[in-house]
Amino acid sequence: MRKTIIIAGIFGTVLLIHACHKKTDNNPVYAPTAQTIEVPAYVEKYVGKMQEPADNPTTKEGVLLGRKLFYEVMLSNDNTMSCATCHKQENAFDDPRRFSLGTNGTAGNRNAMAIVNAGWENHLFWDGRRATLEGQAHDPVTNPIEMANNWPEVVRKLQASSVYPPLFFSAFGTKTIDSNMVVKAIAQFERTLVSFGSRFDKYFYGGDTTVFSQQEKNGFAIFTGKGLCNNCHLMNTLLTDRDLKNNGLDENPADDGKMKFTGISTDRGKFKVPTLRNIGVTAPYMHDGRFATLADVVNFYSSGVKQTSPNLDEHMPDFGSGLNLTNEEKADLVAFLNTLTDQAFLTDARFSNPN
Ligand code: HEC
Ligand code: HEC
Repeated sequence: MRKTIIIAGIFGTVLLIHACHKKTDNNPVYAPTAQTIEVPAYVEKYVGKMQEPADNPTTKEGVLLGRKLFYEVMLSNDNTMSCATCHKQENAFDDPRRFSLGTNGTAGNRNAMAIVNAGWENHLFWDGRRATLEGQAHDPVTNPIEMANNWPEVVRKLQASSVYPPLFFSAFGTKTIDSNMVVKAIAQFERTLVSFGSRFDKYFYGGDTTVFSQQEKNGFAIFTGKGLCNNCHLMNTLLTDRDLKNNGLDENPADDGKMKFTGISTDRGKFKVPTLRNIGVTAPYMHDGRFATLADVVNFYSSGVKQTSPNLDEHMPDFGSGLNLTNEEKADLVAFLNTLTDQAFLTDARFSNPN
């Protein structure tokens, strides 16, 4: 009997000491480690270093937290939806559905966007209404047709979890969570989503002509030749001029695009020129997902451009009666577009769901 008490006593003391140690472990010093985002040298040659806001430098701890938050369903009102519900890694962080559904089952009227090399972008969303990834990440959480939540509720849930407060401490030096730290961490993770590992990279920037078939070479020649696709989807490694333009989808656009947020009539029908990287896995296409396949897109550029569309961009080739590509040329162009897929990006374990 006495023996048992003594043993229990010793055991209890051991537990107590252990618990004290644990407490110290839970209060590490705040010392975040800078994280450099590795990209091939030719990228910076064309578009410079990726800029990050002075008040949100990329750190290993911030990226780790941001990755967890990107996949965190607590961000939504009913704990069913994370950013990744509509931005799926296997689709280059795009949504294969034409219109994403919010937690309440309502569909929006715009197709979701891929998140690829977004750290170089200054205009976020199809109409360019947000200038930074931090600013952008605020919106889906409170959007009634997306996560339909409110920030005090998100913060309350994260604060009450056992996992998040220490992660916020490691990333930002405080366990008291606020919405600004949530969006900063998510933006840090998004900046790491860089994709320059396609066959096109090896061919064009790496100078290895053996990686393209003859058909892909022909398609590339159309892309940069008579198609003038590279007027807007620039050969600047990002495959976008990062501007908003009207490519002539409609005579009478149902969605005003950039005008919706600037109110200026010369912005009507202008949408973000999207990157074409990983375009083979981000169907459907255009701001409203109207085209199901790349063949449909190529048909549009070949003979569907509306010359009377308001503010049709001057960089659109003067199609006049249309580019009128032959069936073979169309197939060549589609084959080229499919070389822009970066398989390693779509399966990179650093970007997958850590929860
Ligand atoms: C219900 C689906 C849905 C959810 C959830 C969602 N998004 Fe989106 N996302 C979209 C749609 C749709 C667009 C385009 C909307 C528009 O242009 O008006 C978009 C656009 C974006 C863009 C702009 C990309 C660019 O190149 O301009 C980013 C970045 C982004 N989302 C990140 C996020 C993050 C971070 C979260 C989580 C906090 C999130 N999204 C949650 C559907 C969703
Ligand atoms: C004047 C600039 C311009 C030119 C030239 C141009 N595009 Fe585009 N492209 C855009 C814009 C703007 C969009 C988005 C339009 C929208 O959704 O309203 C777009 C969208 C696309 C998309 C769909 C992207 C997505 O994520 O949904 C593909 C694919 C595409 N273009 C390929 C091409 C090809 C191939 C050519 C050459 C035949 C070409 N583009 C020429 C501006 C241009």
